[in-house]
Amino acid sequence: MDIKITTSKSSHLDGVDFDNLPFGRTFSDHMFVVDYVDDKWQNPRIEPFHNLQLHPATMALHYGQAIFEGMKATKMLDGTPALFRPELHAKRLNFSAHRMCMPALPEEIFLKALQKLVELDQAWIPPQEGSALYIRPTMIATDEFIGVKPSQTYKFFIITGPVGPYYPKPVRLLAETKYVRAVMGGTGEAKAAGNYGGALLPAKMAQDKGFDQVLWLDAKEFKYIQECGTMNVFFVIDGKVITPPLYGTILDGVTRRCAIEILKDNGFEVDEYKITIDEVVDAYHKGTLQEAFGAGTAAVVSHVSDIGYKDLVMELPPISERKVGELVKNTINGLRSGRIADSRGWVVPVGAEVADMATV
Ligand code: COI
Repeated sequence: MDIKITTSKSSHLDGVDFDNLPFGRTFSDHMFVVDYVDDKWQNPRIEPFHNLQLHPATMALHYGQAIFEGMKATKMLDGTPALFRPELHAKRLNFSAHRMCMPALPEEIFLKALQKLVELDQAWIPPQEGSALYIRPTMIATDEFIGVKPSQTYKFFIITGPVGPYYPKPVRLLAETKYVRAVMGGTGEAKAAGNYGGALLPAKMAQDKGFDQVLWLDAKEFKYIQECGTMNVFFVIDGKVITPPLYGTILDGVTRRCAIEILKDNGFEVDEYKITIDEVVDAYHKGTLQEAFGAGTAAVVSHVSDIGYKDLVMELPPISERKVGELVKNTINGLRSGRIADSRGWVVPVGAEVADMATV
């Protein structure tokens, strides 16, 4: 499928300060759009970045058929732009689409669109390690109808923008004992927009108490740790790395997968099991809670400085002692920049075959 490209007459890159990049506020010159009409994806195009015009009855706005991905493009040491495990994001988008009763997007369209868009806006990729061009693929239901049913039309678009670290400092997490993020059989495994909307009130309440994010517990017993909403979570207890397994309520994070593989390759034992908040408290009291960190595309690895649970605030060891989280962070950032050789085929260069795939 050819992508029609209309380039922007002028770039607004000049006004952007790569040394001061708050997350998610700056967007690059172009965007990709493709429409699902008459049961097929049609008219793939790259256009100058623009607002969407939406009818007030657009179904995504009413019943939440909206899903997204979060990805990053970086520049390798020789200046080549690169994507990171794009095929996993293509698959997860379609997993989310299935759960939200939306049409699958052929992986070929997803991957070609990314290639061409990032190639076109490669000047927007910040050069410094740890910064990146954040990529936000999004699918929304576009029928203009307020009956409750799956939409018959959809729009998939990709926008990008340069970003620095999502959490500029270690995060303070509050284990949530009243609200829940996800229940078995719900939509917690999907990257559905509504999952994030439902988390805003508890996150705001946690922030009012001086925390940065919520540490979600299971919806039945408020006992098993799930994730932090913007990241999957890892603990290091007595030298052993532990992360909750994917059992139906947790997002299958790409960074989570990378972290597990990197740690195993480096000789760490990684236990994917249903760790409870009581085990974390216990380890804290015994002095064996060595590290906790979140792993996600936007955050990469964010160290956890404190965990609040009921009346207890557990202060974790200083960041200078966080060998495990640092290993993951350094490896992922190093792979993305080309500083570390990619023996696993995770880094996908942008360029080469794109000229054959797209029509200008
Ligand atoms: C990401 O890590 O890319 C996410 O999508 C999480 C958050 C920024 C919403």
